[in-house]
Amino acid sequence: MAKSTLSFVCQNCGAAYNRWQGKCESCGEWNTLAEEDATGSVPVSIRSKRKGRTFALESLSGKTQDAPRLSSGMTELDRVTGGGFVRGSVLLVGGDPGIGKSTLLTQATSLMARAGHRIVYISGEEAVAQVRLRAERLGLSDAPVQLAAETSVEDIVSTLSEGAVPRLIVIDSIQTMWTDTVESAPGTVTQVRASAQALIRFAKKTGAAIILVGHVTKDGQIAGPRVVEHMVDAVLSFEGEGSQQFRILRAVKNRFGPTDEIGVFEMTGLGLREVTNPSELFLSERDLGTPGTAVFAGIEGTRPVLVELQALVAPTSLGTPRRAVVGWDPSRLSMVLAVLEAHCGVKLSGHDVYLNVAGGLRIHEPAADLAAAAALVSSLVNAQLPTDAVYFGEISLSGVVRPVAQTPARLKEAAKLGFQRAVLPESARGDAGGDAGLSLNAINSLTTLVAEIAARGSRRGESNAPAEKNATPARFRRGEG
Ligand code: TYD
Ligand code: MG
Repeated sequence: MAKSTLSFVCQNCGAAYNRWQGKCESCGEWNTLAEEDATGSVPVSIRSKRKGRTFALESLSGKTQDAPRLSSGMTELDRVTGGGFVRGSVLLVGGDPGIGKSTLLTQATSLMARAGHRIVYISGEEAVAQVRLRAERLGLSDAPVQLAAETSVEDIVSTLSEGAVPRLIVIDSIQTMWTDTVESAPGTVTQVRASAQALIRFAKKTGAAIILVGHVTKDGQIAGPRVVEHMVDAVLSFEGEGSQQFRILRAVKNRFGPTDEIGVFEMTGLGLREVTNPSELFLSERDLGTPGTAVFAGIEGTRPVLVELQALVAPTSLGTPRRAVVGWDPSRLSMVLAVLEAHCGVKLSGHDVYLNVAGGLRIHEPAADLAAAAALVSSLVNAQLPTDAVYFGEISLSGVVRPVAQTPARLKEAAKLGFQRAVLPESARGDAGGDAGLSLNAINSLTTLVAEIAARGSRRGESNAPAEKNATPARFRRGEG
Protein backbone atom coordinates (compact mmCIF):
# COMPACT_ATOMS: atom_id res chain seq x y z
CA MET A 1 0.00 0.00 0.00
CA ALA A 2 1.26 3.43 -0.95
CA LYS A 3 2.47 5.61 1.85
CA SER A 4 0.22 8.53 2.70
CA THR A 5 1.48 11.69 1.02
CA LEU A 6 -0.53 14.23 2.97
CA SER A 7 1.09 17.58 3.53
CA PHE A 8 0.26 21.11 4.47
CA VAL A 9 0.59 23.65 1.68
CA CYS A 10 0.67 27.42 2.07
CA GLN A 11 -2.16 28.89 -0.04
CA ASN A 12 -0.19 32.07 -0.46
CA CYS A 13 3.23 30.93 -1.65
CA GLY A 14 2.89 27.19 -2.17
CA ALA A 15 5.49 26.10 0.40
CA ALA A 16 4.76 22.60 1.79
CA TYR A 17 5.20 21.35 5.38
CA ASN A 18 4.62 17.92 6.88
CA ARG A 19 2.78 19.30 9.91
CA TRP A 20 0.39 22.16 10.44
CA GLN A 21 1.67 25.45 11.78
CA GLY A 22 0.15 28.93 12.21
CA LYS A 23 2.70 30.89 10.23
CA CYS A 24 4.26 30.07 6.90
CA GLU A 25 8.01 30.40 7.37
CA SER A 26 8.55 30.94 3.70
CA CYS A 27 6.34 33.98 3.08
CA GLY A 28 5.54 35.03 6.63
CA GLU A 29 1.73 34.92 6.17
CA TRP A 30 -0.46 33.62 8.98
CA ASN A 31 -3.22 31.00 8.71
CA THR A 32 -2.57 30.17 5.10
CA LEU A 33 -1.70 26.47 5.50
CA ALA A 34 -4.25 23.96 4.23
CA GLU A 35 -4.12 20.19 4.12
CA GLU A 36 -3.52 18.81 0.64
CA ASP A 37 -2.63 15.51 -0.95
CA ALA A 38 0.82 15.94 -2.41
CA THR A 39 0.05 13.56 -5.27
CA GLY A 40 -2.52 15.97 -6.70
CA SER A 41 -3.64 19.50 -6.09
CA VAL A 42 -7.17 18.57 -5.00
CA PRO A 43 -7.81 18.75 -1.25
CA VAL A 44 -8.57 15.39 0.30
CA SER A 45 -11.99 16.45 1.48
CA ILE A 46 -13.37 16.88 -2.03
CA ARG A 47 -11.49 14.06 -3.71
CA SER A 48 -13.98 11.41 -4.67
CA LYS A 49 -14.15 8.13 -6.44
CA ARG A 50 -16.76 9.24 -9.01
CA LYS A 51 -16.00 9.08 -12.70
CA GLY A 52 -15.86 12.37 -14.63
CA ARG A 53 -19.12 13.66 -16.07
CA THR A 54 -19.26 13.77 -19.86
CA PHE A 55 -20.39 16.94 -21.59
CA ALA A 56 -21.33 17.82 -25.13
CA LEU A 57 -18.80 19.52 -27.37
CA GLU A 58 -20.20 22.17 -29.66
CA SER A 59 -19.28 23.78 -32.96
CA LEU A 60 -18.34 27.43 -33.31
CA SER A 61 -21.42 28.22 -35.35
CA GLY A 62 -24.86 27.88 -33.87
CA LYS A 63 -27.57 29.93 -32.30
CA THR A 64 -26.72 31.92 -29.18
CA GLN A 65 -29.82 32.01 -27.05
CA ASP A 66 -29.81 35.53 -25.80
CA ALA A 67 -27.78 38.69 -26.14
CA PRO A 68 -25.37 38.99 -23.25
CA ARG A 69 -26.39 42.61 -22.82
CA LEU A 70 -29.86 43.97 -22.34
CA SER A 71 -30.43 47.36 -23.89
CA SER A 72 -32.40 49.72 -21.68
CA GLY A 73 -34.08 51.43 -24.62
CA MET A 74 -32.58 54.72 -23.48
CA THR A 75 -29.50 55.69 -25.49
CA GLU A 76 -28.04 57.89 -22.78
CA LEU A 77 -28.34 55.14 -20.16
CA ASP A 78 -26.83 52.52 -22.48
CA ARG A 79 -23.94 54.83 -23.23
CA VAL A 80 -23.01 54.98 -19.56
CA THR A 81 -23.42 51.25 -18.88
CA GLY A 82 -21.32 50.46 -21.94
CA GLY A 83 -24.12 49.18 -24.15
CA GLY A 84 -26.73 47.72 -21.82
CA PHE A 85 -27.02 45.61 -18.69
CA VAL A 86 -24.79 42.54 -18.64
CA ARG A 87 -26.33 39.22 -17.57
CA GLY A 88 -25.72 38.42 -13.92
CA SER A 89 -24.19 41.81 -13.24
CA VAL A 90 -25.04 44.08 -10.35
CA LEU A 91 -25.12 47.86 -10.70
CA LEU A 92 -25.32 50.48 -8.01
CA VAL A 93 -27.05 53.74 -8.93
CA GLY A 94 -26.30 56.50 -6.44
CA GLY A 95 -27.53 60.05 -6.14
CA ASP A 96 -29.03 62.67 -3.85
CA PRO A 97 -32.62 62.14 -2.72
CA GLY A 98 -35.04 63.65 -5.23
CA ILE A 99 -32.53 63.76 -8.07
CA GLY A 100 -34.65 61.37 -10.15
CA LYS A 101 -33.27 57.86 -9.59
CA SER A 102 -36.70 56.26 -9.25
CA THR A 103 -37.96 58.23 -12.25
CA LEU A 104 -35.03 57.11 -14.41
CA LEU A 105 -35.44 53.47 -13.43
CA THR A 106 -39.23 53.52 -13.83
CA GLN A 107 -38.77 54.81 -17.37
CA ALA A 108 -36.01 52.34 -18.25
CA THR A 109 -37.78 49.31 -16.77
CA SER A 110 -41.03 50.19 -18.56
CA LEU A 111 -39.25 50.38 -21.92
CA MET A 112 -37.57 47.01 -21.33
CA ALA A 113 -40.79 45.38 -20.15
CA ARG A 114 -42.57 46.67 -23.24
CA ALA A 115 -39.83 45.05 -25.31
CA GLY A 116 -40.96 41.72 -23.87
CA HIS A 117 -38.48 41.06 -21.05
CA ARG A 118 -39.44 39.97 -17.54
CA ILE A 119 -38.61 43.00 -15.40
CA VAL A 120 -39.21 43.24 -11.66
CA TYR A 121 -39.28 46.49 -9.70
CA ILE A 122 -39.04 46.15 -5.91
CA SER A 123 -39.69 49.35 -4.03
CA GLY A 124 -38.64 49.46 -0.40
CA GLU A 125 -39.36 53.14 -0.02
CA GLU A 126 -42.68 53.75 -1.68
CA ALA A 127 -45.97 51.92 -1.59
CA VAL A 128 -47.20 50.22 -4.75
CA ALA A 129 -49.78 52.98 -5.19
CA GLN A 130 -47.08 55.66 -5.18
CA VAL A 131 -45.02 53.85 -7.78
CA ARG A 132 -48.16 53.42 -9.89
CA LEU A 133 -48.91 57.11 -9.57
CA ARG A 134 -45.48 57.99 -10.90
CA ALA A 135 -45.86 55.55 -13.79
CA GLU A 136 -49.23 57.09 -14.60
CA ARG A 137 -47.70 60.56 -14.65
CA LEU A 138 -45.00 59.30 -16.98
CA GLY A 139 -47.59 57.69 -19.25
CA LEU A 140 -46.14 54.23 -18.63
CA SER A 141 -48.98 52.52 -16.75
CA ASP A 142 -49.47 49.98 -19.53
CA ALA A 143 -45.93 48.61 -19.32
CA PRO A 144 -45.88 45.01 -17.98
CA VAL A 145 -43.37 45.67 -15.16
CA GLN A 146 -43.83 43.34 -12.19
CA LEU A 147 -44.07 45.51 -9.12
CA ALA A 148 -43.85 44.90 -5.37
CA ALA A 149 -43.22 46.88 -2.20
CA GLU A 150 -40.99 44.59 -0.14
CA THR A 151 -37.96 44.88 2.10
CA SER A 152 -37.06 41.35 3.16
CA VAL A 153 -34.23 39.99 1.04
CA GLU A 154 -35.14 36.36 1.83
CA ASP A 155 -38.73 36.91 0.67
CA ILE A 156 -37.55 38.67 -2.47
CA VAL A 157 -35.06 35.94 -3.35
CA SER A 158 -37.54 33.10 -2.85
CA THR A 159 -40.27 34.91 -4.80
CA LEU A 160 -37.94 35.62 -7.71
CA SER A 161 -36.58 32.07 -7.74
CA GLU A 162 -39.99 30.91 -8.95
CA GLY A 163 -40.93 31.01 -12.61
CA ALA A 164 -38.79 32.40 -15.38
CA VAL A 165 -35.64 34.19 -14.31
CA PRO A 166 -36.19 37.96 -14.58
CA ARG A 167 -33.86 39.75 -16.99
CA LEU A 168 -33.60 42.74 -14.67
CA ILE A 169 -34.48 43.43 -11.05
CA VAL A 170 -34.51 46.92 -9.58
CA ILE A 171 -34.08 47.24 -5.81
CA ASP A 172 -35.10 50.76 -4.77
CA SER A 173 -33.24 51.23 -2.42
CA ILE A 174 -30.57 48.97 -0.88
CA GLN A 175 -30.71 50.94 2.39
CA THR A 176 -34.26 49.80 3.02
CA MET A 177 -33.47 46.10 2.59
CA TRP A 178 -32.87 43.75 5.48
CA THR A 179 -31.93 40.12 5.91
CA ASP A 180 -32.56 37.64 8.76
CA THR A 181 -28.98 36.52 8.73
CA VAL A 182 -27.71 39.55 10.61
CA GLU A 183 -29.16 41.28 13.64
CA SER A 184 -28.59 45.00 13.05
CA ALA A 185 -31.23 47.45 11.87
CA PRO A 186 -31.96 48.16 8.18
CA GLY A 187 -29.75 50.90 6.77
CA THR A 188 -26.72 49.97 8.87
CA VAL A 189 -23.54 48.98 7.12
CA THR A 190 -23.84 45.36 8.25
CA GLN A 191 -27.40 45.04 6.92
CA VAL A 192 -26.63 46.83 3.67
CA ARG A 193 -23.60 44.63 3.08
CA ALA A 194 -25.36 41.37 3.94
CA SER A 195 -28.43 42.25 1.85
CA ALA A 196 -26.28 43.25 -1.10
CA GLN A 197 -24.29 40.04 -0.77
CA ALA A 198 -27.44 37.92 -0.86
CA LEU A 199 -28.74 39.77 -3.92
CA ILE A 200 -25.40 39.60 -5.70
CA ARG A 201 -25.28 35.84 -5.07
CA PHE A 202 -28.75 35.57 -6.60
CA ALA A 203 -27.68 37.55 -9.67
CA LYS A 204 -24.56 35.46 -10.26
CA LYS A 205 -26.49 32.21 -9.76
CA THR A 206 -29.43 32.98 -12.01
CA GLY A 207 -27.96 35.40 -14.54
CA ALA A 208 -30.50 38.12 -13.79
CA ALA A 209 -29.11 41.66 -13.82
CA ILE A 210 -29.78 43.67 -10.66
CA ILE A 211 -29.80 47.43 -10.15
CA LEU A 212 -29.39 48.60 -6.57
CA VAL A 213 -30.41 52.16 -5.80
CA GLY A 214 -28.27 53.83 -3.14
CA HIS A 215 -28.56 57.13 -1.34
CA VAL A 216 -25.75 59.57 -1.13
CA THR A 217 -24.50 61.44 1.92
CA LYS A 218 -23.86 65.16 2.06
CA ASP A 219 -20.21 64.79 1.11
CA GLY A 220 -21.17 63.01 -2.07
CA GLN A 221 -20.39 59.44 -1.02
CA ILE A 222 -22.84 56.64 -1.42
CA ALA A 223 -23.89 56.18 2.20
CA GLY A 224 -23.37 52.82 3.84
CA PRO A 225 -23.07 51.30 0.37
CA ARG A 226 -19.50 52.58 0.27
CA VAL A 227 -18.93 49.00 1.33
CA VAL A 228 -21.11 47.82 -1.55
CA GLU A 229 -19.11 49.75 -4.13
CA HIS A 230 -16.38 47.16 -4.43
CA MET A 231 -18.83 44.25 -4.42
CA VAL A 232 -20.82 45.41 -7.43
CA ASP A 233 -19.78 45.38 -11.07
CA ALA A 234 -20.58 48.99 -11.81
CA VAL A 235 -21.34 52.17 -9.90
CA LEU A 236 -23.30 54.91 -11.63
CA SER A 237 -23.75 58.30 -10.09
CA PHE A 238 -26.73 60.47 -10.93
CA GLU A 239 -25.82 64.13 -10.44
CA GLY A 240 -27.32 67.54 -10.95
CA GLU A 241 -27.93 70.86 -9.31
CA GLY A 242 -31.27 70.80 -7.53
CA SER A 243 -32.36 74.09 -9.06
CA GLN A 244 -31.48 73.10 -12.60
CA GLN A 245 -33.25 70.73 -14.94
CA PHE A 246 -30.12 68.97 -16.15
CA ARG A 247 -29.13 65.59 -14.77
CA ILE A 248 -25.91 63.82 -15.54
CA LEU A 249 -25.41 60.09 -15.19
CA ARG A 250 -21.76 59.14 -14.82
CA ALA A 251 -20.04 55.79 -14.44
CA VAL A 252 -17.74 55.89 -11.42
CA LYS A 253 -16.72 52.25 -11.81
CA ASN A 254 -17.58 49.82 -14.57
CA ARG A 255 -16.26 46.30 -15.04
CA PHE A 256 -17.98 46.00 -18.41
CA GLY A 257 -17.58 49.40 -19.99
CA PRO A 258 -15.92 52.79 -19.99
CA THR A 259 -15.89 55.04 -16.93
CA ASP A 260 -15.61 58.37 -18.66
CA GLU A 261 -18.91 58.44 -20.54
CA ILE A 262 -21.76 60.62 -19.37
CA GLY A 263 -25.46 60.45 -20.07
CA VAL A 264 -27.33 63.75 -20.06
CA PHE A 265 -30.99 64.10 -19.16
CA GLU A 266 -33.41 66.93 -18.59
CA MET A 267 -36.08 66.64 -15.89
CA THR A 268 -39.40 67.74 -17.32
CA GLY A 269 -42.98 67.57 -16.10
CA LEU A 270 -43.24 64.28 -17.98
CA GLY A 271 -40.16 62.62 -16.59
CA LEU A 272 -36.59 62.55 -17.83
CA ARG A 273 -35.90 63.51 -21.41
CA GLU A 274 -32.70 62.30 -23.03
CA VAL A 275 -30.44 65.06 -24.26
CA THR A 276 -28.56 63.80 -27.28
CA ASN A 277 -26.69 67.02 -27.95
CA PRO A 278 -25.44 68.26 -24.57
CA SER A 279 -23.45 71.18 -26.03
CA GLU A 280 -26.61 72.88 -27.17
CA LEU A 281 -28.03 72.49 -23.71
CA PHE A 282 -25.00 73.76 -21.83
CA LEU A 283 -24.69 76.77 -24.13
CA SER A 284 -28.40 77.51 -24.32
CA GLU A 285 -28.33 80.15 -21.61
CA ARG A 286 -25.07 81.82 -22.50
CA ASP A 287 -24.25 85.24 -21.16
CA LEU A 288 -23.26 86.71 -24.49
CA GLY A 289 -21.05 89.72 -24.27
CA THR A 290 -20.06 89.56 -20.61
CA PRO A 291 -16.38 89.71 -19.68
CA GLY A 292 -15.25 86.62 -17.80
CA THR A 293 -16.88 83.91 -19.88
CA ALA A 294 -15.13 81.52 -22.23
CA VAL A 295 -16.42 78.48 -24.08
CA PHE A 296 -14.45 75.30 -23.48
CA ALA A 297 -14.45 72.60 -26.15
CA GLY A 298 -14.25 69.50 -23.98
CA ILE A 299 -14.57 65.76 -24.41
CA GLU A 300 -16.68 63.59 -22.15
CA GLY A 301 -15.88 59.97 -22.92
CA THR A 302 -16.19 59.68 -26.65
CA ARG A 303 -18.39 62.72 -27.05
CA PRO A 304 -17.39 66.35 -27.51
CA VAL A 305 -19.18 68.70 -25.13
CA LEU A 306 -19.02 72.46 -25.33
CA VAL A 307 -19.56 74.24 -22.07
CA GLU A 308 -19.23 77.78 -20.79
CA LEU A 309 -16.73 78.64 -18.04
CA GLN A 310 -17.59 81.74 -16.04
CA ALA A 311 -15.03 83.59 -13.97
CA LEU A 312 -15.29 86.52 -11.63
CA VAL A 313 -12.14 88.24 -10.42
CA ALA A 314 -12.86 91.02 -7.93
CA PRO A 315 -10.69 93.02 -5.50
CA THR A 316 -10.76 91.38 -2.09
CA SER A 317 -11.38 92.90 1.29
CA LEU A 318 -10.01 89.86 3.08
CA GLY A 319 -6.48 89.10 4.23
CA THR A 320 -6.54 85.80 2.38
CA PRO A 321 -8.41 86.16 -0.90
CA ARG A 322 -11.20 83.68 -1.64
CA ARG A 323 -10.88 81.01 -4.31
CA ALA A 324 -14.19 79.29 -5.03
CA VAL A 325 -14.85 76.87 -7.84
CA VAL A 326 -17.92 74.93 -8.93
CA GLY A 327 -17.61 72.07 -11.40
CA TRP A 328 -13.84 71.99 -11.65
CA ASP A 329 -10.87 70.84 -9.62
CA PRO A 330 -9.86 73.56 -7.07
CA SER A 331 -6.21 72.52 -7.17
CA ARG A 332 -6.24 72.89 -10.94
CA LEU A 333 -7.54 76.47 -10.47
CA SER A 334 -4.76 77.21 -7.98
CA MET A 335 -2.24 75.95 -10.50
CA VAL A 336 -3.57 78.12 -13.32
CA LEU A 337 -3.57 81.15 -10.99
CA ALA A 338 0.02 80.43 -9.95
CA VAL A 339 1.17 80.15 -13.57
CA LEU A 340 -0.61 83.42 -14.42
CA GLU A 341 1.19 85.14 -11.53
CA ALA A 342 4.60 83.62 -12.08
CA HIS A 343 4.95 83.66 -15.85
CA CYS A 344 2.47 86.18 -17.20
CA GLY A 345 2.75 88.98 -14.67
CA VAL A 346 -0.94 88.78 -13.80
CA LYS A 347 -1.28 89.82 -10.16
CA LEU A 348 -4.19 88.04 -8.53
CA SER A 349 -3.13 87.91 -4.90
CA GLY A 350 -5.28 90.93 -4.11
CA HIS A 351 -8.37 89.49 -5.77
CA ASP A 352 -11.10 87.04 -4.92
CA VAL A 353 -11.50 84.47 -7.68
CA TYR A 354 -14.69 82.57 -8.52
CA LEU A 355 -14.96 80.03 -11.30
CA ASN A 356 -18.12 78.25 -12.35
CA VAL A 357 -18.89 75.64 -14.99
CA ALA A 358 -22.30 76.52 -16.40
CA GLY A 359 -25.13 74.00 -16.52
CA GLY A 360 -24.03 71.86 -13.57
CA LEU A 361 -21.44 69.88 -15.51
CA ARG A 362 -18.32 68.69 -13.72
CA ILE A 363 -15.15 68.87 -15.80
CA HIS A 364 -12.24 66.50 -15.16
CA GLU A 365 -10.03 67.29 -18.15
CA PRO A 366 -6.82 69.32 -17.83
CA ALA A 367 -7.70 70.60 -21.32
CA ALA A 368 -9.96 73.15 -19.60
CA ASP A 369 -6.90 75.05 -18.30
CA LEU A 370 -6.73 77.38 -21.28
CA ALA A 371 -10.43 78.24 -21.22
CA ALA A 372 -10.26 78.86 -17.47
CA ALA A 373 -7.23 81.12 -17.88
CA ALA A 374 -8.96 83.04 -20.68
CA ALA A 375 -12.08 83.55 -18.57
CA LEU A 376 -10.04 84.67 -15.56
CA VAL A 377 -7.93 87.20 -17.47
CA SER A 378 -11.00 88.41 -19.34
CA SER A 379 -12.74 89.14 -16.05
CA LEU A 380 -9.66 90.77 -14.54
CA VAL A 381 -9.07 93.22 -17.39
CA ASN A 382 -12.82 93.55 -17.98
CA ALA A 383 -12.51 92.64 -21.66
CA GLN A 384 -15.09 90.53 -23.37
CA LEU A 385 -13.73 87.52 -25.28
CA PRO A 386 -14.91 86.94 -28.85
CA THR A 387 -18.30 85.26 -28.56
CA ASP A 388 -17.58 82.98 -31.50
CA ALA A 389 -14.41 81.40 -30.09
CA VAL A 390 -13.77 78.14 -28.26
CA TYR A 391 -10.73 77.39 -26.09
CA PHE A 392 -8.90 74.23 -25.14
CA GLY A 393 -5.39 73.28 -24.09
CA GLU A 394 -3.48 72.13 -21.05
CA ILE A 395 -1.18 74.60 -19.30
CA SER A 396 2.11 73.34 -17.92
CA LEU A 397 3.77 74.77 -14.84
CA SER A 398 6.21 76.63 -17.09
CA GLY A 399 3.35 78.44 -18.85
CA VAL A 400 3.59 76.41 -22.06
CA VAL A 401 0.31 75.44 -23.68
CA ARG A 402 0.42 71.70 -24.17
CA PRO A 403 -1.52 69.63 -26.72
CA VAL A 404 -4.57 67.60 -25.75
CA ALA A 405 -6.24 64.57 -27.29
CA GLN A 406 -9.04 64.53 -29.83
CA THR A 407 -8.50 67.96 -31.37
CA PRO A 408 -10.50 67.19 -34.56
CA ALA A 409 -13.58 66.08 -32.59
CA ARG A 410 -13.52 69.27 -30.51
CA LEU A 411 -13.21 71.49 -33.57
CA LYS A 412 -15.92 69.63 -35.45
CA GLU A 413 -18.39 70.09 -32.60
CA ALA A 414 -17.52 73.79 -32.34
CA ALA A 415 -18.05 74.28 -36.08
CA LYS A 416 -21.34 72.39 -35.89
CA LEU A 417 -22.60 74.82 -33.27
CA GLY A 418 -21.67 77.88 -35.29
CA PHE A 419 -18.36 78.88 -33.73
CA GLN A 420 -15.94 80.64 -36.05
CA ARG A 421 -12.59 80.30 -34.33
CA ALA A 422 -10.65 78.20 -31.89
CA VAL A 423 -7.79 79.05 -29.57
CA LEU A 424 -5.71 75.91 -29.21
CA PRO A 425 -2.17 74.67 -28.52
CA GLU A 426 0.34 75.37 -31.28
CA SER A 427 1.39 71.74 -31.33
CA ALA A 428 -2.19 70.58 -31.90
CA ARG A 429 -2.55 72.54 -35.14
CA GLY A 430 -1.02 69.61 -37.04
CA ASP A 431 -3.78 67.15 -36.11
CA ALA A 432 -6.55 69.72 -36.47
CA GLY A 433 -7.31 68.37 -39.93
CA GLY A 434 -7.92 71.82 -41.38
CA ASP A 435 -11.35 70.94 -42.74
CA ALA A 436 -13.29 71.96 -39.67
CA GLY A 437 -13.97 75.39 -41.14
CA LEU A 438 -12.76 77.28 -38.09
CA SER A 439 -9.98 79.83 -38.13
CA LEU A 440 -7.33 78.59 -35.74
CA ASN A 441 -5.40 80.73 -33.30
CA ALA A 442 -2.62 78.38 -32.26
CA ILE A 443 -0.67 79.61 -29.25
CA ASN A 444 2.47 78.29 -27.70
CA SER A 445 2.55 80.02 -24.36
CA LEU A 446 0.03 81.38 -21.93
CA THR A 447 1.75 84.77 -22.10
CA THR A 448 0.55 85.15 -25.70
CA LEU A 449 -3.06 84.57 -24.69
CA VAL A 450 -2.83 87.02 -21.79
CA ALA A 451 -1.31 89.70 -24.08
CA GLU A 452 -4.08 89.21 -26.64
CA ILE A 453 -6.84 89.53 -24.05
CA ALA A 454 -5.14 92.50 -22.37
CA ALA A 455 -4.91 94.20 -25.79
CA ARG A 456 -8.65 93.79 -26.23
CA GLY A 457 -9.17 95.37 -22.82
CA SER A 458 -7.00 98.42 -23.45
CA ARG A 459 -8.39 98.88 -26.95
CA ARG A 460 -11.84 98.98 -25.47
CA GLY A 461 -10.69 101.49 -22.88
CA GLU A 462 -9.07 103.85 -25.42
CA SER A 463 -11.78 104.15 -28.03
CA ASN A 464 -15.47 103.51 -27.88
CA ALA A 465 -15.32 101.38 -30.99
CA PRO A 466 -17.07 98.04 -30.50
CA ALA A 467 -14.62 95.42 -29.38
CA GLU A 468 -15.84 92.94 -31.98
CA LYS A 469 -14.58 95.03 -34.88
CA ASN A 470 -10.92 94.55 -34.08
CA ALA A 471 -11.43 91.19 -32.50
CA THR A 472 -8.91 89.30 -34.56
CA PRO A 473 -5.54 89.39 -32.82
CA ALA A 474 -2.61 90.58 -34.95
CA ARG A 475 -0.86 87.22 -34.75
CA PHE A 476 -3.92 85.49 -35.92
CA ARG A 477 -4.40 87.80 -38.94
CA ARG A 478 -0.81 87.26 -40.03
CA GLY A 479 -1.40 83.52 -39.95
CA GLU A 480 -4.41 83.84 -42.22
CA GLY A 481 -2.92 86.16 -44.84
P1 TYD B 1 -37.49 60.68 -7.85
O1 TYD B 1 -37.30 59.83 -9.04
O2 TYD B 1 -38.53 60.27 -6.87
O3 TYD B 1 -36.12 60.90 -7.07
P2 TYD B 1 -35.23 59.85 -6.23
O4 TYD B 1 -35.74 58.49 -6.48
O5 TYD B 1 -33.83 60.07 -6.76
O6 TYD B 1 -35.32 60.26 -4.80
O7 TYD B 1 -37.78 62.14 -8.41
C1 TYD B 1 -38.11 63.14 -7.56
C2 TYD B 1 -38.24 64.49 -8.21
O8 TYD B 1 -38.42 64.50 -9.59
C3 TYD B 1 -39.42 65.14 -7.60
O9 TYD B 1 -38.96 66.25 -6.87
C4 TYD B 1 -40.30 65.54 -8.70
C5 TYD B 1 -39.47 65.39 -9.93
N1 TYD B 1 -40.23 64.88 -11.06
C6 TYD B 1 -40.48 65.71 -12.14
O10 TYD B 1 -40.09 66.88 -12.16
N2 TYD B 1 -41.16 65.21 -13.21
C7 TYD B 1 -41.64 63.95 -13.24
O11 TYD B 1 -42.25 63.53 -14.23
C8 TYD B 1 -41.37 63.11 -12.11
C9 TYD B 1 -41.89 61.69 -12.08
C10 TYD B 1 -40.67 63.61 -11.04
MG1 MG C 1 -36.68 57.18 -5.11
